[in-house]
Amino acid sequence: MKKEKTDWFVHDRFGLFVHWGIYAIPGRHEWVQSREKIAAEDYKKYADRFEPDLYDPVQWARDAKRTGMKYAVLTSKHHDGFAMWDSQLTDFKVTNTPAGRDLMAEFVEAFRAEGLKIGFYHSVIDWHHPDYTLDSPHPSRDQDPGKFNQGRDMGRYREFLHGQVRELLTNYGKIDVMWFDWTPPEKNRKDWDSENLATLVRELQPGILLNDRIDYPESADFVTPEEYQAKAWPERDGERVLWETCQTLNGSWGYDRDNVNWKSPEVLVKVLIDTVSKGGNLLLNVGPTARGEFDPIARETLAQIGEWVHRHGRSIYGATAAEELPPQDCRFTRRGNRLYLHVFSWPLRHIHLEGFAGRAEYAQFLHDGSEIFFREGDPNAVAQNTAMAEDAGTVILEVPLRRPDVIVPVIELFLRDS
Ligand code: GLC
Repeated sequence: MKKEKTDWFVHDRFGLFVHWGIYAIPGRHEWVQSREKIAAEDYKKYADRFEPDLYDPVQWARDAKRTGMKYAVLTSKHHDGFAMWDSQLTDFKVTNTPAGRDLMAEFVEAFRAEGLKIGFYHSVIDWHHPDYTLDSPHPSRDQDPGKFNQGRDMGRYREFLHGQVRELLTNYGKIDVMWFDWTPPEKNRKDWDSENLATLVRELQPGILLNDRIDYPESADFVTPEEYQAKAWPERDGERVLWETCQTLNGSWGYDRDNVNWKSPEVLVKVLIDTVSKGGNLLLNVGPTARGEFDPIARETLAQIGEWVHRHGRSIYGATAAEELPPQDCRFTRRGNRLYLHVFSWPLRHIHLEGFAGRAEYAQFLHDGSEIFFREGDPNAVAQNTAMAEDAGTVILEVPLRRPDVIVPVIELFLRDS
């Protein structure tokens, strides 16, 4: 049962994260309210200015699909507490802004129509709710906690939190992923009543996959290392776990106008490959503008990644870690009897695959399906002017001098064994 539930996720490997909310207006990172210690009353001004007249979720969905993404996770509420849907439990919501409509509903409809699965990111942290108590990330953290917390009741906040989650998982059809975020050091599972929260999620959406950020690891289907490339397939109690790394395009999740730390398409393609080579998924984020668009650099980056994925999807979808150690500067993924060699740094003429003698049946470039010659190492061969014996256990791939013109060249190796 468990495996069937997670099959699509393991297969699909690549999703879009969208951090969109009224923090796109200041355009200084989604944590702007905390970083600049803006009181909730002052922050409200951004709700009055939220007018995303260029919002076109059909275009977003097409961009995601063209990038090769198979699912999308949208922020329903971030830490600022602003609801991107028509919640009946708060006035601090998108329908009370100049936008005047439920933008999440449109997102869900457009992405589903393009065949992508849907997830909601929902912050359990809330800097707006009058019952939410002080903790270290809170914009009012400098205030006296005794005074600030007076009259605040996390019990009432929990009811609100569970109520909003009920709305989200009741009113938008089948939701595939619930992505809660996160538990500050001063809080724990009791603050969210994580046990009942997880139960509620599963009751309302039996097939859903739940992440791991409500301080209740027992309930998690997958773990979510953030802006971090794991060294190896993450384990818990000695067992490999389902995992998804989430990564920004420029270090900020929400739109961050003056941030120029863009990751190159090459780095991001390598992150995708590296992740799948360790059995994980990549959730790659875009922070749309206040007008409702993916900005040009984000779009161009996605387009270039998509160009690569278009020709190399065979090494990503349905692929996973291989048990063999790859040669230097390479990553392996495996799908059935096919092994994919991703060459991060182009070598001179030969790639040595140690221990593969007798196992290789055929080899080709993945981008164009052109044949790659190979031979098995011959300990008696003496190359011209050297006395270097070849390793009999090695398969030697003969690659062209000129590196193929793709972001990362991939060699598809058909193995005799499966
Ligand atoms: C976080 C941050 C955040 C972002 C996120 C994505 O911990 O607080 O702003 O939404 O995780 O993983």
